[in-house]
Amino acid sequence: MDDILIPIKIYKASENILIRPLVKSDLPALEWEGEYTRFRNVFSDLYMKIENGVAKAWVAVAQESYMVGQVFLQLTSDRLELANGWNRAYLYSFRIRPAYRNKGLGTKMHSVLENALIELNFTRLTLNVARDNKRAIRLYHRLGFHVVADEPGVWTFPDHNGVLQTVCEPSWRMEKSLKSTDQHPISAL
Ligand SMILES: CC(C)(COP(=O)(O)OP(=O)(O)OC[C@H]1O[C@@H](n2cnc3c(N)ncnc32)[C@H](O)[C@@H]1OP(=O)(O)O)[C@@H](O)C(=O)NCCC(=O)NCCS
Repeated sequence: MDDILIPIKIYKASENILIRPLVKSDLPALEWEGEYTRFRNVFSDLYMKIENGVAKAWVAVAQESYMVGQVFLQLTSDRLELANGWNRAYLYSFRIRPAYRNKGLGTKMHSVLENALIELNFTRLTLNVARDNKRAIRLYHRLGFHVVADEPGVWTFPDHNGVLQTVCEPSWRMEKSLKSTDQHPISAL
């Protein structure tokens, strides 16, 4: 099942939010009215990777077209400790619009992604989170992640004007096991 509809309470009214795989026509809406325009090339690169079968992405959409959330997944990476193409995948660019946070939407998007990975027989999920992002770290702990390494968090991307930008965000690498069959059958007894 690819699409999931969940009711979310926004200012006392209930809204149905659709979680579904990202499609090409979603790309402009990922820019959030300019807030994330600088990542335009990152988004088109993601879409190319989806077409090549090495990435996946889901969006959460309210009222048919208003983009309220996103989460991306890399199945492969040059850094095998993040994603290795067969059992370990890397979650990134996870965000929910502020008005839609703390209502269970992020948790639901994570579970959609997790189920998709389990279907692909992946057993490990990794992510990097800024060390000062306490709320996200608490959520990830609740979802079963634990810290496995320090990450300098330095990465570069070409912005929408083709200018190379450098991000420096000291982070933790976190990881979780996706299913108990990850264990040796004897130790699971
Ligand atoms: C991190 C992020 C994606 C989480 O999304 P979210 O939709 O707020 O996540 P949830 O609502 O599922 O969970 C957040 C908290 O709300 C609580 N919550 C869940 N459903 C709830 C409900 N119906 N009512 C009240 N609280 C609820 C959860 O228990 C959780 O608390 P916890 O962190 O103490 O465990 C979101 O906060 C975000 O976009 N942050 C900014 C970008 C960011 O930091 N991204 C992560 C980068 S690594």
